[in-house]
Parts: sequence; structure tokens; C-alpha cells
Amino acid sequence: MSKPTRASDTPIAVEVEAGTSYFWCACGLSKKQPFCDGSHKDTDIRPVVFKAEESKKVFFCGCKATAAQPLCDGSHKST
Ligand code: FES
Ligand code: FES
Repeated sequence: MSKPTRASDTPIAVEVEAGTSYFWCACGLSKKQPFCDGSHKDTDIRPVVFKAEESKKVFFCGCKATAAQPLCDGSHKST
């Protein structure tokens, strides 16, 4: 299993739109954080789909250590 790369020390806030699916970068290599840009292709990591149920601001994990993928669970403070 490939180890994800820490892309950010903090979560990334995004205004998501109800009914839209977002592909969160789990590998940390994307240049379009927090979203996948296909850079995971040489790893065995794949993006995680987040389907927005409502329009609101959410905090995607940037450190890639969250246990609540794709959202920040505070793990960036201890990793
Ligand atoms: Fe990864 Fe908060 S940014 S857990
Ligand atoms: Fe990271 Fe696709 S670029 S999961």
C-alpha cells in the first residue's frame, strides 16, 4: 500500500454544491488540492468520492492522515 504524501498542514475549505460529486485526492500528489488530478496513477491509492447532500462549506483533509476521509477529523494536529 502506498503511503500518502502530506499535501497541507491544515484542512482546505470548499463551498460544495448540493448534488455534485467531488473526487478528493487521497494520495497527496495532486496539484489541484484537495481534489484529484490523476497524479495517483503510479500509486495504489485512488481518490475518494464525496457527494454533497447540501450546499455548504466543508473542510477537506489536506494532510491525508484523516480517519474520516475525505473530511478533516483533526488528525493534522497530531501527525
Ligand atoms: Fe488532515 Fe485535518 S487536514 S485531518
Ligand atoms: Fe491524489 Fe488522484 S491525484 S488521488
